[in-house]
Amino acid sequence: GWKMEDVLNEEIKAIKGMVGAEDHVICALSGGVDSTVAATLVHKAIGDRLHCVFVDNGLLRYKERERVMETCDQDLHLPVTCVDATEQFLSKLKGVVDPEMKRKIIGKEFISIFDAFAQDLDNKLGKRPAYLVQGTLYPDVIESCPPPGSGSTHSHTIKSHHNVGGLPKDMKLKLIEPLKLLFKDEVRELGRILEVPVAFLKRHPFPGPGLAVRVLGDVTEGNALEILRQVDEIFIQSIKDAGIYDSIWQAFAVFLPVRSVGVQGDQRTHSHVVALRAVTSQDGMTADWYNFEHKFLDDVARKICNTVRGVNRVVQDITSKPPSTIEWE
Ligand code: XMP
Repeated sequence: GWKMEDVLNEEIKAIKGMVGAEDHVICALSGGVDSTVAATLVHKAIGDRLHCVFVDNGLLRYKERERVMETCDQDLHLPVTCVDATEQFLSKLKGVVDPEMKRKIIGKEFISIFDAFAQDLDNKLGKRPAYLVQGTLYPDVIESCPPPGSGSTHSHTIKSHHNVGGLPKDMKLKLIEPLKLLFKDEVRELGRILEVPVAFLKRHPFPGPGLAVRVLGDVTEGNALEILRQVDEIFIQSIKDAGIYDSIWQAFAVFLPVRSVGVQGDQRTHSHVVALRAVTSQDGMTADWYNFEHKFLDDVARKICNTVRGVNRVVQDITSKPPSTIEWE
């Protein structure tokens, strides 16, 4: 059989052969496994003619920006420009409650930032970047082009995921998709060879629209995003501490736009409700809800209500996919 070392060497050779000695390449890092491994591979082939951008859209998890930038800098030595576009995204999302509208707005803002990044490079280098790196996997390729007559039950027709083909088509960038023939577990193996930290390679998937699809309704209302970040971090950290992170496909908290009555100390409260969701899955197309131990749930719910101001109730999502989706929006 072919070894992943051979795949790596072949890819590097192919990229070196394709990208001209004066050409520059850009890549949008999401902080996920795929784009990170793809960028690391391309960096190995062409060095600092690769220019990565990481966009903080204000919808990231607790300390996500810092964590991604640190991994890129300290572990991967990847050249990454970090763009803080929090205000740009959140102002466009103000008052928006429709989930698909949220996705469209986020996709559009992302493209405008990416365009500006390419333009800045053009100004700086006196040359437009010629190539774009994307961390497209083999299953993404199949999913985005369903065979004719195959029905419309795949997730891209249900939710407008913008992982594939979501970048500007009129930029005239040629694509480099070094993972196009690989499955997720092969990408992880490739990542190990490229010395991407193992903990990073095992990260749960995270949706492009981020916490926007985990704060139900208007994401800019009150301090929903901040509350969600704190709750989510406690949940994930507890899962890691319990040693079950790797048995779970995805785990996260959801902010519900309702208040419920509670009692804390001798005070009656009227505060927020958060939901915890954890699922097992092979590929995200179907999923089963994860059955935590009673003590784990008890500890985590107490910790959340004791630590996060404004939350007095924690519920657990016990639906599988189908009939539910993994995300709530
Ligand atoms: P659902 O909620 O459709 O999610 O069961 C299946 C998988 O896809 C992720 N997801 C998204 N990823 N953009 C993305 O990049 C999106 O708009 C999006 N919506 C859902 C979800 O986190 C899960 O892994």
